[in-house]
Amino acid sequence: MDPSQDNPIVRFKAFFWALALFALFGIALGVIALLEKKEPKTLEDQAAVIRYENRAKVEAAQSANLTYKEIEAGKTVQVKPQDVFAHLGKELAATKPTAVEKPEQVIPGSATAKANEAAAANAAPVVIVETDPNAPIDPAVMDAGKAQYALCMACHGPEGAGVPGLAPPLANSEWVVGPVENPIRIVLRGLEGPISVNGVDYNLPLAMAPLAHLTDDQVAATLTYVRNSFGNKASAVTADQVKAYRGEVGRPALKVSDLKAPK
Ligand code: HEC
Repeated sequence: MDPSQDNPIVRFKAFFWALALFALFGIALGVIALLEKKEPKTLEDQAAVIRYENRAKVEAAQSANLTYKEIEAGKTVQVKPQDVFAHLGKELAATKPTAVEKPEQVIPGSATAKANEAAAANAAPVVIVETDPNAPIDPAVMDAGKAQYALCMACHGPEGAGVPGLAPPLANSEWVVGPVENPIRIVLRGLEGPISVNGVDYNLPLAMAPLAHLTDDQVAATLTYVRNSFGNKASAVTADQVKAYRGEVGRPALKVSDLKAPK
């Protein structure tokens, strides 16, 4: 056979040489890749290396700071940081005096509220100076009260006629024009539960919240206005009268049974 290009044996040999070269090239590439891998090349890789180093340092520092406790005789375990915080939190909650400076900060039903209730029950009854029901009403107080009434109006309506399902009327209400302590205490403590106003029974879904943020003067002016508007006629309310009931602020909402019978 002619050992030329056309000889199939020669061509077969060439094929194997090519195959061997190709394999060699592959191995060389693999070796290069392996060597290359040791040095992080991209910025991301370099940053990752630093991150891993830092993490290892942080973990080492954390485990060095872990405290130990003996869970049973001779058996000591490491306390996890979160356990330390939980323990610290409990300690703080138990030792820190509760800062209850304002009566409205007292949580109903709490120990402080109960202590206040007991103190209030033993306290001397509030004595107020009655206002002459025939004395003329100061127009400036009426104006101030009218402005302040915007707050009550949201529930009791612009003409004090009440809003169905929301609040009973203030017009022709025995609770408004009756003993002055009733409306004062209602504003300072709020009111809940069934109530009858001018012969109509109300059992509203929402109670009246206390509006104790109003000053004595504001409550006095608002109630003077309400007691002398919408067809109502009653004595003016003074700031001193309101002040006399301030001590009740923060106690639970009143019920009709807590009020003085109007008639
Ligand atoms: C968020 C709504 C709301 C606001 C604001 C509000 N009240 Fe009331 N008020 C009520 C509800 C509700 C009742 C009835 C409570 C119950 O169900 O026992 C009520 C009852 C009363 C009563 C006794 C019942 C009656 O109709 O006479 C008086 C007095 C009263 N409010 C005065 C006031 C005054 C004064 C203001 C403004 C300083 C005021 N309220 C603001 C909702 C409100």
